[in-house]
Amino acid sequence: MHVDIGNALASVASPGVSRESLERLDDQVADAHERIERGMANADHGYESLNLPQRTDPDEIRAAVEPVADAEALLTVGIGGSSLGAATIANALDSDTETVFLDNVDPEWVTAHLDRLPLENTAINVVSRSGTTAETLANFLIVREAFESAGVDWTERTIVTTGESGPLRDLATRHDLPSLKVPDGVPGRFSALSAVGLVAAAVCGHDLEALLEGAAAEAETLTGSLFECPAYAYGATTYALDQRGAGTNAVMPYAESLETSAEWFAQLWAESLGKDDLGQTPARALGVTDQHSQLQLYRAGPRDKLVTFVTPREGPDRPIPETDVEDLAYLGDATLGELLDAEFEATEASLAAARRPNVRVEIERVDEYELGGLLYGMEAACVLAGELYGVNTFEQPAVEWAKKATRGLLGGGEFEEAEAVAEKTELR
Ligand code: PA5
Repeated sequence: MHVDIGNALASVASPGVSRESLERLDDQVADAHERIERGMANADHGYESLNLPQRTDPDEIRAAVEPVADAEALLTVGIGGSSLGAATIANALDSDTETVFLDNVDPEWVTAHLDRLPLENTAINVVSRSGTTAETLANFLIVREAFESAGVDWTERTIVTTGESGPLRDLATRHDLPSLKVPDGVPGRFSALSAVGLVAAAVCGHDLEALLEGAAAEAETLTGSLFECPAYAYGATTYALDQRGAGTNAVMPYAESLETSAEWFAQLWAESLGKDDLGQTPARALGVTDQHSQLQLYRAGPRDKLVTFVTPREGPDRPIPETDVEDLAYLGDATLGELLDAEFEATEASLAAARRPNVRVEIERVDEYELGGLLYGMEAACVLAGELYGVNTFEQPAVEWAKKATRGLLGGGEFEEAEAVAEKTELR
């Protein structure tokens, strides 16, 4: 990925960061890089995620999905880090396999999908690192029952990805299901480049090697300086801008196929950095759609935001038909791609003219190699930012609290958190 921070500098933006401040920050980046390298070398919790391009075995993943490789549809049952990486890849790339991501537990929505899908030709990809997440397990039980009611043997159509032990691992063993292990030391939101994200990609026929090669190429760029490494340039600049008042980071891809990547980014940034009263709030936007809504706020609202554009340099195109309506003649000379590019450039220029900080993240095109680089680059940026904030990037106590409380309220143990919820509810 390529990162251009020119529009985030103090000479052109407010809040902005001066070149001198970035040079000073670069000493901290060098120290952080040493810690990151050490963590990777020791396979320490979290840092191990940055080793995935070398550690993930595409053959093992392809072998596990072989029984369902001809599926017409793929139902992924998982939530958060066990869903968003796979969804980012699947939603970005074309495939003949329809992909559905069952993360929410809205009964109407779950039922609608199960009623609609051709279950006899649908594969199930159930993913949970802990193997205990209530939403995932509940949805999986419902999916199993739907398959049974339709007379389809779900055990023939299910792949499980989970940790070494836990209820989901027990279930996989009991039914002799093809299963993969979530690698040790890799938190959910950093697991897109493991089986967690790649099982769905394999069923869809995507090129796993290219995804991992793109990520490996990005890994090669990790050096001790933000002036040399695009991922660190992004992580350090966003951190510096947050310190100067840009507490919100609105991520705005200019490609419909990258819309889910903003959702993935939002989880990565919020769950990793939102600790100890620190962190930058991610917002999700889509170019050009949100030029007609959120852009007003980004250009003229409070000066507490940074906009991150994510844009492919090239992509498929389509000419706009000519018309004899004089006022529309300019459109007939253009293509949709040219219009999209013009919209992006106009938006970027419009923010710059209003001295609003923005950063451009570019990939060459939307394909496996470039996506691998983007996912890896943003993860590395997040790890670097976590080092600069001094937070524990790889834990998520607030998320775990709510997970335990939910289970507790339903009688599933761990009552301490559930009791706190019950007390609060009574107070209202
Ligand atoms: O990043 C994380 O740790 C979380 O978002 C988890 O991925 C999410 O809570 C799902 O957890 P699990 O994979 O254990 O079902």
